[in-house]
Amino acid sequence: MRTAITALTEELRRLKASGVTNVTISPDSLARLQTVVSKRVDASGVAATQETVLPAIEPVAAPSVRNPKKEEAPKQNFPEPPTIGLVEGDKPTRWAALRDLVLKNETCLAQLAPNKQLVFGVGDFDAKIMFVGEAPGADEETRGEPFVGPAGQLLTKMISGMGLKREETYIANIMNWRPQLPTRDGYEQIGNRPPDAEEMAYCLPFLRAQIEVVAPQVIVALGATAARGLLGLDAFRALGEVRGKWHEFEKTPLMVTYHPSYILRNKSNRSKRAIWEDMLQVMERIQMPITDKQRGYFLSG
Ligand code: URA
Repeated sequence: MRTAITALTEELRRLKASGVTNVTISPDSLARLQTVVSKRVDASGVAATQETVLPAIEPVAAPSVRNPKKEEAPKQNFPEPPTIGLVEGDKPTRWAALRDLVLKNETCLAQLAPNKQLVFGVGDFDAKIMFVGEAPGADEETRGEPFVGPAGQLLTKMISGMGLKREETYIANIMNWRPQLPTRDGYEQIGNRPPDAEEMAYCLPFLRAQIEVVAPQVIVALGATAARGLLGLDAFRALGEVRGKWHEFEKTPLMVTYHPSYILRNKSNRSKRAIWEDMLQVMERIQMPITDKQRGYFLSG
C-alpha cells in the first residue's frame, strides 16, 4: 500500500514539475481511489487507513473549468426542483421558515452520509453583501454551517480586510448538501466533487428564496460553480470570461470572483490581488469607505 501511494505521489510530483496543474481521472478510478484513501473510523473514533490495491489513474489534460454538465456524477433521480412559497412575516420569520423547510426536505436529507448535516445560509438578514459558494465540504457538513473550513477561514479574513465582520454579511452556497462520492460502508468521504446540473437545479430555489428574504445590495459568486448556478450552466466556458465583472442575478448586481480555495492553492500576491480587486469593486458599488491602505493590499511582493 505504502509503495503504491509513494508511486502515485511521485507521478503527481513529476507531472507538476512538467507544468501540469490539474489531472482528471475517470469516475471509476476516482471511486476506487476514493475508497482507498477513505478513512475508516472505528467505534473508538480512531481513523485507520483501509488496505486496498491502488487503482491505475489516467492523467489527462484537464479543462481549466469544471463544467457540471460534463461531470459524470453518480446517477440521481431527483424530483423536480421545489416551488417555494415564502411565509408572511418579518425577515427572521421568513428566514426561519425557509431554513426549516430545507432542513426537513426529504430529497436533501437523502443525500447525506450518516451523521452529517444539511447546510443553510447564515448571517445578517439585512446584509448588503451576500457571498455564494459552491457546496459544503467536510467541515461544513459536520458543523452544519457554510464556510467554516480552511476556505471559510480565508473568506472570513477577506471580509475583515473589507472592514466588516463575517456576521455582517450573509454567506450561502448553491448546494445545501455535500455532493457525495462513493465510499465503503463505515468509511468517511475524503475530497469533494462539484455538484451536477440536477443537484444544482434542485437547490437553486432555496438560494433564490434566501436572496429574496435578505435582499442584498450585491451578490458575490465565489468560483465557477457558484457563477454557473447564478448565471446559467452555459454562461461561460472559463471563469476568466466572467470574473471581475458585474452581472445580474434577477436584478441584483452580481460580482464573480475566485473561490477562496483558489487562493489556498495559489498563494501568490498576484492571485490575492486579483480577488481583492473584485472586492474593491464590491465595496465601491455599495459605497463603503475605502482607505488608501485597503486600496494597496497585495500590490507589492
Ligand atoms: N466551499 C464552498 O464552496 N462552500 C463552503 O461552505 C465551504 C467550502
